[in-house]
Amino acid sequence: MADSFPSDGLVLGIESSCDEMAAAVLRGGREIVSSAVHGQESVHAPYGGVVPELASRDHVRVVSGVVEAALKEAGLSPAELDGLAVTAGPGLVGSLLVGLSFAKALAFSNDLPFVGVHHLVGHLVAAEVAGQGSGEGADLVPPYVGLVVSGGHTALYRVGAEGLPVLLGETRDDAAGEAFDKVAKLLGLPYPGGPAISKVALTGDPTAVDLPRPMARRGGLDFSYSGLKTAVSVELERRGGLRSLSEQDVADFAASFETAVAESLVARAARAMKTESARRIAVVGGVAANRRLREEMHAAGARGGFEAVFPPMDLCTDNAVMIAAAGTRLLERGVRDDLSLEAFSRVPIGEAPWRDPAQAPA
Ligand code: KG4
Ligand code: ZN
Repeated sequence: MADSFPSDGLVLGIESSCDEMAAAVLRGGREIVSSAVHGQESVHAPYGGVVPELASRDHVRVVSGVVEAALKEAGLSPAELDGLAVTAGPGLVGSLLVGLSFAKALAFSNDLPFVGVHHLVGHLVAAEVAGQGSGEGADLVPPYVGLVVSGGHTALYRVGAEGLPVLLGETRDDAAGEAFDKVAKLLGLPYPGGPAISKVALTGDPTAVDLPRPMARRGGLDFSYSGLKTAVSVELERRGGLRSLSEQDVADFAASFETAVAESLVARAARAMKTESARRIAVVGGVAANRRLREEMHAAGARGGFEAVFPPMDLCTDNAVMIAAAGTRLLERGVRDDLSLEAFSRVPIGEAPWRDPAQAPA
């Protein structure tokens, strides 16, 4: 089926893969018409991490309100949309099903073309979307190297003008964001750990605690973060545990840990830029909001002759703009899903049910 799709098509995106329920309308795959995000930090904070059952229950509670908010801000009724895009995975299946079922119902009742989007493709495409007014990332077009650093993923991709992103390397154990969340817990800081650690780290000395720069396999492009988390825990114990630390000590631990993560990410990214002979790297996902990582990556780019592009802060963490953007690219190529589309918890970008948009029927 090769439905033609208008070049300035209005696409509603819906994202619910983890603990954010988000909806957004995009025109022509780049212009943000509206965006609404409902987070669940207060729901999960008492547990120090996302509780899947609570996440999906909260999604059920807010889904129609969030979608309505995005449509209202855009001044549109569902029937005025040209298409619908929804995250189908990877993520928590209970969470995904809420957004996916809602999207299917909306598509069916308004006779709208609809596509499922891979969450990580969404994160990567976020770097190509101009932030409202910020202009950051506005000129990024493939080819480039993409570094996805989120709560669930840490991976490098080759993003070409055609086809799906190709995996170059990924974490062997914990994701970088997961390490932030776990180390925050060790340091008695609140959930989510990334923003909490960065805030405390502002007053810390990044050289105060000697931590390893985690590298899985020298010379490769893989990452590893569980050893770093263990190193923090061992050093904490050696100093008599959290209770014997002053506020300044905690800040020093936070700054030292943040720097170790940033440096290891930058080292791998710089290596990928060399082996790929690439000139631009897009750094995306929740951890891309980290100030120190941004600074170190820009500095490495200046040294190594490449440009680092970061999405605006609100497009780093989970949002629906990125899903609408990735979905628009699929819809424009004639890709459509039907109501049998299922949610999936773990599927690499290049595998079924994800198909290469370049190979979609023309
Ligand atoms: O992309 P995202 O919103 O959700 C996933 O797809 O996982 O990423 C969430 C992750 C969390 O682990 C959070 O601690 C981390 O991103 N994060 C940060 C910062 N803001 C969010 N990590 C470091 N520094 C930050 N400023
Ligand atoms: Zn994400």
